[in-house]
Amino acid sequence: MKGAAELLTDNGVVVENRTGTPFYRSVGDEAEVFRAAARRGSPVLLKGPTGCGKTRFIEAMAHELGRDLITVAGHEDMTSADLVGRFLLKGGETVWVDGPLTRAVRTGAICYLDEIVEARQDTTVVIHPLADHRRELPIDRLGTTLSAAPGFQLVISYNPGYQSVLKSIKESTRQRFVAIELDFPPPEVEAEIVAHEAGVDAATAHVLVSIGTAIRNIDGSPLREVSSTRMLILAGGLVAEGLSLRRAVRAGIVEALSDDRDVVRALGELVEALLPRP
Ligand SMILES: Nc1ncnc2c1ncn2[C@@H]1O[C@H](COP(=O)(O)OP(=O)(O)OP(=O)(O)O)[C@@H](O)[C@H]1O
Ligand SMILES: [Mg+2]
Repeated sequence: MKGAAELLTDNGVVVENRTGTPFYRSVGDEAEVFRAAARRGSPVLLKGPTGCGKTRFIEAMAHELGRDLITVAGHEDMTSADLVGRFLLKGGETVWVDGPLTRAVRTGAICYLDEIVEARQDTTVVIHPLADHRRELPIDRLGTTLSAAPGFQLVISYNPGYQSVLKSIKESTRQRFVAIELDFPPPEVEAEIVAHEAGVDAATAHVLVSIGTAIRNIDGSPLREVSSTRMLILAGGLVAEGLSLRRAVRAGIVEALSDDRDVVRALGELVEALLPRP
């Protein structure tokens, strides 16, 4: 990562200031919708399965708009203090330390809250006034309310396939956001992405994509998640490292998708039919 990006990491928070342009291939009109939302300062909800390009998309948009990107990975113990900040004891003194959301609000960065539904409900209390016309962040502990700097934009991501009924986004939250749905790219585009990211030739990328597509199209699939673009890139990377395509697909896709022997066997048969004859 060094060189391509300036990274500052603490507590799962990543602040990025990329120097190189992130490689992102548009799948539909997502960039156009995002640009319009950004001009309005409207918050964005990115929906889509794992490994379909949500993070890469937001990196590309932040770069295009010249904004810093502050990414926070949601988890079930995450509270509003993790986002806003807290008093910490430093050398016998109590000092206030801004959380990542507060930093983004002060500096006009894009704050990307990844898998926010995992977080505790009290986080919505701080998100709501930032996600509507008020664009402000109340900080109870400091007895102040911050107005978001120009450029500040809230982006949250969500994988509808994962969420249980219990943990879906509250209606009052989601109605504040512009929703952009991302899905796996069409085959020609996905093959181009796999070739670029994994460093494999076009023919290998096409076979990987045909395998990925076939797995996604299985009727009544027993898989919780299908083969993502990320997964195809991972398998491609093994080929680039010298493994045979068959072995790479086995390790990077078939075995990785399931632990159930019958499912692995069935996937193996499906894949076998798509691999080029030796
Ligand atoms: N449209 C795209 N253009 C370029 N690269 C892409 C695209 N979609 C996916 N990728 C590649 O696939 C990888 C996985 O995508 P990414 O990490 O953005 O997925 P994600 O949707 O954020 O997944 P998760 O929900 O698991 O966080 C990226 O690192 C990138 O290499
Ligand atoms: Mg991601």
